[in-house]
Amino acid sequence: MAVQTPFYYYDLALLENTLQALNDAIPSSKFKVHYAVKANAEDRILQTIQRYGLGADCVSGNEITKSIACGFNPSEIVLAGVGKSDAELHTAISNGIHSINCESIEELEVINEIAEQNNRVANISFRINPNVDAKTHHKITTGLSENKFGIPISEVSRAIAEIRKMEFLSLSGIHFHIGSQILSMDPFIKLCNQVNTLLDEIEGEGIQLDHINVGGGLGIDYLNPDQNPIPDFEKYFAVFHEHLNVRDGQTVHFELGRSVVAQCGSLITKVLYVKKGATKNFAIVDAGMTELIRPALYDSYHEMENITADSLLGTDNYSVVGPICESSDVFGELEMPITKRGDLIKIKSAGAYGQVLSSNYNLRDSAKAYYSDKNELTSWVGSEKKETSLT
Ligand code: LLP
Repeated sequence: MAVQTPFYYYDLALLENTLQALNDAIPSSKFKVHYAVKANAEDRILQTIQRYGLGADCVSGNEITKSIACGFNPSEIVLAGVGKSDAELHTAISNGIHSINCESIEELEVINEIAEQNNRVANISFRINPNVDAKTHHKITTGLSENKFGIPISEVSRAIAEIRKMEFLSLSGIHFHIGSQILSMDPFIKLCNQVNTLLDEIEGEGIQLDHINVGGGLGIDYLNPDQNPIPDFEKYFAVFHEHLNVRDGQTVHFELGRSVVAQCGSLITKVLYVKKGATKNFAIVDAGMTELIRPALYDSYHEMENITADSLLGTDNYSVVGPICESSDVFGELEMPITKRGDLIKIKSAGAYGQVLSSNYNLRDSAKAYYSDKNELTSWVGSEKKETSLT
């Protein structure tokens, strides 16, 4: 079989083991996880996640349509986003999704109008900005006052007064999301304390909420992906089980993306040239920031491995770079077995915010996805390195 590099490779067995571990770690029947579709929206990934009983957390009309096509029931779909278009709100309301996370008082009126046009009452969650520091990269922090997301906590009373006036809206929950790739549990504990205070306040207004959505954010081990392929879901859920004062009849929603799909995906790229620079060696590969932008955008670390080199020939230091005409098109620096033209490099932990963030800058072709169960490429990413010819 001829395979064009670069390509994404998904280990479906690892995805299923991750989903099983997630389900096994859920400590209460009140907890419901919606998968954050933005992390990876491949059909086969969505279908697998749906089979494990998760709902879908969407941020666009197209994500809603795709989630429904992949088997998710609209009653298990939520819509978030700081700038939802009228068309997206129509898609959400006409499909009768579980709830719309509303990010501003200004938005309420628009949703009310569109719900009226659809002759339906829309369930609304207020997305609240809790001003909790997630202590993660500043570009993936969302819950600070200076961020554009959510209704400030100080405005909640006003938002309640407004929604009471709206005939086609029903306030059913509150929603928070403080950021992504969070490894310490402390920010989540702080979030729980904020939520508890706010719940008391909202109840003081005579409102009983049906759910509390605490967002996503659980991080993964980018440094040791092979040793720690599955995140510690137990530790994560235990925080909310212990610290959140959930009332009778209320459910707690989670929106996990990265922790579900990051480790099952890799980007496989071919070495085009090994170039001796004035100060270092460059391994110039055929994938670039167009296929995986995380290193260029957030200085993210992804472990890399030359999966075809002969390790007996010794090692050298390389800067692994892409072909794009941008200085930030660099995947990282590492010591690798002596590397030559035609070798394949596996860039790991690329299942979340990898393929979905691809672009066709420089008019590049889109990288295809291959799946472990089809056995198409086990010869390259698995142990036997034979048969498959790469073009
Ligand atoms: N809920 C909301 C409202 C979100 O904004 C996000 C992610 C999630 C849930 C899922 O968060 P997760 O469990 O995946 O941390 N492109 C960046 C990450 C951006 C995250 C955006 N929001 C990256 O590559 O690191």
